[in-house]
Amino acid sequence: MTKLGVNIDHSATLRQARYRGLENETSIVIEPDPVEIALAAERGGADSITAHLREDRRHMQDADIKLLRQRITTKLNLEMACSEEIIKFASNIRPDYVCLVPENRLEVTTEGGVNLVANKDKTARAIEILSGAGAVCSVFVDPDEIQIKIAHEIGAAAVELHTGAYANAWGNPPKKLGELNRLAAAQKFAESLGLIVNSGHGINYENVGELVRAAKFNELNIGHTIISRSLLVGMERATAEMKELINAR
Ligand code: PXP
Repeated sequence: MTKLGVNIDHSATLRQARYRGLENETSIVIEPDPVEIALAAERGGADSITAHLREDRRHMQDADIKLLRQRITTKLNLEMACSEEIIKFASNIRPDYVCLVPENRLEVTTEGGVNLVANKDKTARAIEILSGAGAVCSVFVDPDEIQIKIAHEIGAAAVELHTGAYANAWGNPPKKLGELNRLAAAQKFAESLGLIVNSGHGINYENVGELVRAAKFNELNIGHTIISRSLLVGMERATAEMKELINAR
């Protein structure tokens, strides 16, 4: 059965909108608390919790990741770039999974997969260190054979296929079908190499059904749409609704 990883970054985005720099202040109520959001996602059926510790700390803070590590009862998936500082932090935290992503400080959200042709050695080194710290290492890549092949070559246990192009093609059925076929072919290819195959980015309540029917992913990592829906129905229910759609496959 395809699992659901819930990305809780945007609960921290909301907190930072008001309390940036005051995260450790004890005399006021700092809300929302991303850890409580994660626990609610777990009650709603999340199989893992994903958090991206960005170099500019725009949403998740180091203390959030430490608390998540202590308090969640599912798996912790740390999304991160191959930066020395974050690799060191992650090695101490020992997340269950790591997903290596490209990072550009000017982007609003992750915009594309890692280009492993250009970043092979750097990524290989990060995988070596983080696997040594006990993490199942994944690389976020576009659904291209060359990227998947290199991920396998450098020792990744998993890939997360970038579903952004599929999500962005929603209003254009022929393009959407093309992207869906591309994801399905990439999933099969990655699986044939023995990789665990996850996917994520831009998946929402509308487009998840076609995606899970087109390809058999181990896990979907979904954030923005669940956090958005939670404003209306609460985190537990928003997560449970997504789980239901995935299970209806
Ligand atoms: N997977 C990766 C690698 C991501 O960078 C993100 C966005 O942070 C997601 C999944 C979740 O994307 P979304 O918030 O669009 O569901």
